[in-house]
Parts: sequence; structure tokens; C-alpha cells
Amino acid sequence: KRNIAVMTSGGDAPGMNAVVYAVVRTAIFKGCKAFAVKEGYEGLVRGGPQYITEMEWQDVRGILSEGGTNIGTARCMSFRERPGRVQACKNMIDAGIDALIVCGGDGSLTGADKLRSEWPSLIKELRDNNQITEEQYIKHKQLNICGIVGSIDNDMATTDATVGAYSALARICKAVDYIDATANSHSRAFVVEVMGRNCGWLALMAGIATSADYIFIPEKPSSSKDWQDQMCEIVATHRAHGKRKTIVIVAEGAITSDLKHISSKEVKDVLVERLNLDTRVTTLGHVQRGGTPVVFDRILASLQGVEAVKAVLDCDENTPSPLIGLKEHKIVRRPLMEAVKITKSVADAIQTSDFEKAMALRDSEFIE
Ligand code: F6P
Repeated sequence: KRNIAVMTSGGDAPGMNAVVYAVVRTAIFKGCKAFAVKEGYEGLVRGGPQYITEMEWQDVRGILSEGGTNIGTARCMSFRERPGRVQACKNMIDAGIDALIVCGGDGSLTGADKLRSEWPSLIKELRDNNQITEEQYIKHKQLNICGIVGSIDNDMATTDATVGAYSALARICKAVDYIDATANSHSRAFVVEVMGRNCGWLALMAGIATSADYIFIPEKPSSSKDWQDQMCEIVATHRAHGKRKTIVIVAEGAITSDLKHISSKEVKDVLVERLNLDTRVTTLGHVQRGGTPVVFDRILASLQGVEAVKAVLDCDENTPSPLIGLKEHKIVRRPLMEAVKITKSVADAIQTSDFEKAMALRDSEFIE
């Protein structure tokens, strides 16, 4: 029976609480002890019962449907350096933890895999410095790690949906529906900027779901001149057909084919100068990340939390750390580092303007 800790890390996402709920209750149901690591990797480095807290069945009561993450999250610098990881290792051993489930984005999951691959050398260092006993050294030789992707960006390869993405999408669509009414009343154009870092999933899906006039995503850029001509032609045609409102959705990571950032202000200026439209910019910001998770995220997080506990119980020292994903409506296990590697290659392909490669990679399962 293992002592399983769950941690949320990186930007919060709706559904993270449901992951914690599912992990804690499944772990206890399976006869294990459950722990929560508070404040992400910061909590691992600080340690002690205040940060690595044992969780009872009732401690997660009612949290499944709450937004954000009640156990806290942080972006931690000290864990990036080896001394921080040595300290984290010591704190985990002191608390008796031998399995860790991390819910976060690709950076957080890379950190988790690094901790696991370094684990043998970290415990050796602690033993050699008499910071842990020989008995603890033998008992904690193996650390099992499992990842669940919690991010509104939906930017992780090998999974169709990340926990939080559909909630953020719902929020965006609701906001655009609200904007529609005022845009229509004044016959205005609105440039709506959405989150997503280097990924255009939120902008693309919101564009489809709200029948926006035009969208900008990093994965399919045009040259500076082309986007202006194309957008103006499409918007002008829609207006000529009697449409009173114009909605343009811009992903925050939108770029031109020569990799220049396209700002919402720039898009607005083009609509004003070339089409003479009364135009406003709405940057949705963190509203997209807040609020309760939609049904899809509650279910995804619950099923993945259960699977993550099963996965850490199944792992031996030769199993690569798994990532719990969703593929064609099925909960699946994929090698965590493979997923992170493909995700990084997508970003690299975009940085070198190889957009076709980026699209192909995003759909791939393995990488050479
Ligand atoms: O990765 C999630 C995300 O919300 C991105 O879409 C966005 O670019 C970033 O985090 C914002 O980060 P912060 O909350 O630190 O401002």
C-alpha cells in the first residue's frame, strides 16, 4: 500500500479540484494513504505537515464542482535547481510519500519526470549526508510519478483534452454571446483577445462556436499584408450582407508568418482605418480561467484522477512515468516524457515557421 500525494502546479484550471477529489478518495478506497501537497512544488520544497498534509475522505467533501485549486498552486523557482529538489526529496521521505500525482501543464510535468529520474541520486545524496536513515533509503528507493494535464490552453500532445480547457472555452463563448448584444446594438466591431499561450485551440474553437467573422491563431499565420486584406475582405462582405456586428477573435499568441506578434490593438486599427468600423477591444484575461468547471471537465478530471491512482499502483521501476490522457473518448496512459517532447517540438516547429510540421506533430503519438 502506497502513500500517494497529489499536487496541482502551474496556472490553475477549472477541474483541478475534481482531480484532487478523485485522487484522494480513490487512494483511500484502495487502502492507501492520501496526501495533498500545498502550493505546488513550493510546498514540496518547504515540506512539513503544513505543506504535505494527509487527507481524509471528508477533507475533499464538496470540492469537486469548485473552480481553481483549493490546495493552491505556484510557479516555483527553487525546485528548478538541484538543491531545491534534494530538499523536496527529503521532505517527501519525511512524510512517507512514495507516489506523486501531478496535475499541471507541460513545465510542471517535466519537473515531475525530472524528480523521478533523479530520485536514485537524490536519495543517495541524502543517505550519504546522513539526512535520511539506511532504513528510509531502502524503503524509498522507488518513487512513482503520474501526470494529468491541467491547463486551459489544451496544448499538450497525445491527449485530446486537458482539464480546464472546455470550461475556459465555455466562458469565452458566454462572453462573446454577451458582447454580441452590444455589438449588434451599436453596429460595432469587437476584437476579442483570448488566452492559450502558443496554442490557438481556445481561439479556434471559440471562433467556430460563436460564428466569429475572423480568427487569428499561431498555427496558421499569414503575412502581415495578407491578413489585413483577407480580414477586411471577409468583414466587408459580411457587412454588405447586412450583418450589423463584427467579431474577430485573436489568440494571445497570434503571429504573422514571419513570426511577428499580432496584437489586438493592431487588428482594431486595421478595422477602423480600412473599414471605418467603430471598434472596441475586449481582453478576456483571467475571467477565462475562473469559475466552476463545466460538466465535461468534472467528468474528465474524475476519471483521470481514478486512473492516475491505478497507474501509480501498477508502475514498477521500469515503467516510464505515465501521463493520463484522453484519446477518442477513452481514458488512456501515455509515456509522460513522450508527450512533453512532442509538445515542445510543436512549439519549436512554430518558432521556425514550419507550420505544417507543427500541425502534423500535434496529432502524433510518437516522435523520432
Ligand atoms: O497556461 C495558462 C495561461 O492562462 C495562459 O493561457 C496564459 O498565457 C497564462 O497562463 C497566464 O499566466 P498568469 O496567470 O501567470 O498571468
